Amino acid sequence: MPLLTRAAATLAIAAAIGVASPACAEPKRDPLTPAGRWTLPERKTARTPPMGWSSWNAFRTEVDEDKVLGAAQKLVDSGLARLGYVYVNIDDGWWLKRRTGDGRLLIRTRIFPSAERKGGDSSFRPFTDRLHAMGLKAGLYSDIGRNACSQAYDLHSPNLPEGSTAEREVGLHGHVEQDVALFFREWGFDYLKVDACGINVYAPDAPVVAQNGYRPFAPLIDQASINRTDVDAVKALYAEVAAALDRANSDGDYILSLCTWGSADVRRWGKQIGHLWRTSQDITPNWTRMLHNFDSAATREFYAKPGAWNDPDMLFVGHGDFDEKHLTEARSHFALWAMINAPLLIGYDLRDAPQSLLAIWGNAAIVGVNQDPGGHQAVIAYATDDVQILVKTLAGGRKAVAVFNRGLAAAEVNLTAKQLKLAEGSPITLRDLWSGTARAPFTGETTLKLAPRETLIFEVRGERRLKDGMYLSEIPGDVNVAEDGIVAPEVDPVVHRMIGQWSGTRDTGERPVYAGWGGVRADATPYDQTLQIAGKPYDTGIGILAQSRLEVRNTARHRRFEALVGVDDSTRNTRDRVRFFVYGDGRLLASSTPVAFGAAAQNLSADIRGVRTVELVTRTQTHGSDLPVVTTWANAAVR
Ligand code: GLA
Repeated sequence: MPLLTRAAATLAIAAAIGVASPACAEPKRDPLTPAGRWTLPERKTARTPPMGWSSWNAFRTEVDEDKVLGAAQKLVDSGLARLGYVYVNIDDGWWLKRRTGDGRLLIRTRIFPSAERKGGDSSFRPFTDRLHAMGLKAGLYSDIGRNACSQAYDLHSPNLPEGSTAEREVGLHGHVEQDVALFFREWGFDYLKVDACGINVYAPDAPVVAQNGYRPFAPLIDQASINRTDVDAVKALYAEVAAALDRANSDGDYILSLCTWGSADVRRWGKQIGHLWRTSQDITPNWTRMLHNFDSAATREFYAKPGAWNDPDMLFVGHGDFDEKHLTEARSHFALWAMINAPLLIGYDLRDAPQSLLAIWGNAAIVGVNQDPGGHQAVIAYATDDVQILVKTLAGGRKAVAVFNRGLAAAEVNLTAKQLKLAEGSPITLRDLWSGTARAPFTGETTLKLAPRETLIFEVRGERRLKDGMYLSEIPGDVNVAEDGIVAPEVDPVVHRMIGQWSGTRDTGERPVYAGWGGVRADATPYDQTLQIAGKPYDTGIGILAQSRLEVRNTARHRRFEALVGVDDSTRNTRDRVRFFVYGDGRLLASSTPVAFGAAAQNLSADIRGVRTVELVTRTQTHGSDLPVVTTWANAAVR
């Protein structure tokens, strides 16, 4: 469409679909109006999930230069760096104080001797130069508030910031521009993790504040209550850091890791601000904690894509339930992280790593699954509390499947062509990515036996069910969730709950705390039901609340979009009608009539030849209820 007519066309479309036309000069943008383009920032880094090593799970605050450089050397010597493990990240514990007068941060040179400079100053430049010379990248840690997590949770640490109240304010708050310039321009770091304890645990009445003489910070995050969390304020603070990082890195070669532990509705906005965002509280080396962290990210498949990843936290392979005596568990943890495009950050003292663990991190085929350039997070094809089957689309027409036994009983699993979205009558081959061996081809289904807590992971080849295209639920990395229709964030109840890591069973048990329930899902409704319209179930499609907008990039130059659309049978709002719209580069291509609960699915198809961005919009047409309408784009595909 010629540019001149675009505005006129938008108005005509607005009139056609019942949106009030802008009366004044500066109308508030209707978030459901098609953007006409892919609106996520095209990031240069983290096109695949970040990989490397972090000091935290291995050493907590007792990090030092020998330990970090020892890990770096091992990454290089073992070949892990060649596989992509290049970020070497210092977590909490590195700082000494913020210098009074000019506010410059000083490094604890007792543990980072190469940082020592004359006159009491310090610089990480020799350290980052060393890492860069090894072909590695350097990461550092800070906090969005004034004080860091260790200053509340690791009070016995020998490496806590020292000095007056002001000197111990080592976090970014009030110093964003200065600190980011220091970390990136002067010290040469490439990666920054920004924690959030400073805006969470230093409330005026918190005992830790009085006991340690900290300046109080009225919390912006209440981890137990999304309603008491100031989501916009948290987002704005992180956006300020992102803007400073952009200024300090004109080449775009940096990574920003958001660490709000799944709180502050970061699921919704993390992708606009950072390259990865934590989806849960900290992982610990316990099987059930791993389940918890995995669950917090595994249902967020549409929120991750190249340059923007769900982060269920760093790997704990090598410790506790995942140590060298528990290789089944360790392999499961690793395979699951690979499947859901989690960052692969090793958290082990690599200097004395046994071969059995190196073989896990170093499994090139599984790393390849994680690093597949398509960036499609695995989709859950089968889910119970006992067994899950996850399927991930890979480049070159291949797929990966992980069959995961969550429990302590052996399991027999039927893996079907249908779950893999492969043709039922054609042979399917599975190559075991742990052993490298191929199994005999099967058609229709095969049976797999799993030991307790085992995860089998295979590369899959077979004829596709949709021969000439892709279901959108197979390519979540090409879909940007611009609006997911959630009006009031709700906590996600499907995350595994474990016995409290610090509190034991003294409290009332772990309650869900991560907002995200009701978000867009692949092959399921937003509330984890089977997709179903007018009594007919669909195993493929997108489940999303009405008042939503998805952007789909048509990188493979498909020619047609197709779906069967309708109000999902699981909706609690059975009163309101919804219309479905398909746009191509901002132009209306197809729309449904208003559909009601119980009405048969409508066929929606559109010619998308030459279209770069397809947008899928749902709008509620009536207002009989405040409840959201659950809608289904069944069999949604581009071909
Ligand atoms: C928080 C983060 C952890 C780690 C510690 C450091 O708990 O979630 O990943 O960075 O702080 O104190």
